[in-house]
Amino acid sequence: MKIKYEIHGQGRAVILLHAFPLDGKMWADNLEVLTRNGFQVIVPELEFNLGDKDALSETAASIGQIVDSLNIEKAIFGGLSMGGYVCFNLYRLRPELFAGLILCDTNSSADSGEKRNSRFELIEKLRQQGNQALVESMLPNLLAENTKLNNPAIFEKVKDWIISSDADKNIAALAAMADRKDHDYILKEINVPTKIIFGKEDKITDLKIAEKLQRGISKSELSIIPDAGHYSNIEQPELFNELVIEFVSKIHY
Ligand code: MLT
Repeated sequence: MKIKYEIHGQGRAVILLHAFPLDGKMWADNLEVLTRNGFQVIVPELEFNLGDKDALSETAASIGQIVDSLNIEKAIFGGLSMGGYVCFNLYRLRPELFAGLILCDTNSSADSGEKRNSRFELIEKLRQQGNQALVESMLPNLLAENTKLNNPAIFEKVKDWIISSDADKNIAALAAMADRKDHDYILKEINVPTKIIFGKEDKITDLKIAEKLQRGISKSELSIIPDAGHYSNIEQPELFNELVIEFVSKIHY
């Protein structure tokens, strides 16, 4: 599949993979700091083929093709939630591309049966009601209480992004996530420096998952961002950027 992407700045490559049901815009507050610090940031727009047996893996392979087409030998890959699921698949397929890994509010496990069923129910609702179904089922759990109370502009921005996202692409992404393979086994194979960043109040991927990732990946370090939920990079961009710059600056590639 052909995946669209944007390139910002020049320097060592950092590839940022977005969450569901958002798009590359979610990295707006992070891009600029990375480019200012001498990195080239590549932001793909993740898409999935509805009906592919392992659509998430197919999309990960397409990200590898983008990297090849840009003649990039190694990059640091960062993914938030769904973007992290793609990172695990890409690591399985193309470990040699990785100079480092940034895993934010994500999980290496496949869906439980219950979670899988809830995704197919959500697909039905999306078909009937459009993206309003996502606003109702997801938005209440995405952001920290502090963000909702003290930063209503972030709440409104995320809501607008969800409403204006492409409902058909969302259906394909939900199906891809429901059918994704378990990658818990790969944690012990990841041998590149890995930064794990989670919002302290993440209700979707909680801190037990963050600790599992840290225990599993030998060269990993975990940072928890206070007053952030599932979208730690959007809710606390300054703290998030500090952690990312500190991490990427120590990797020589
Ligand atoms: C995301 O933020 O990408 C989603 O919460 C992932 C998911 O639904 O598993």
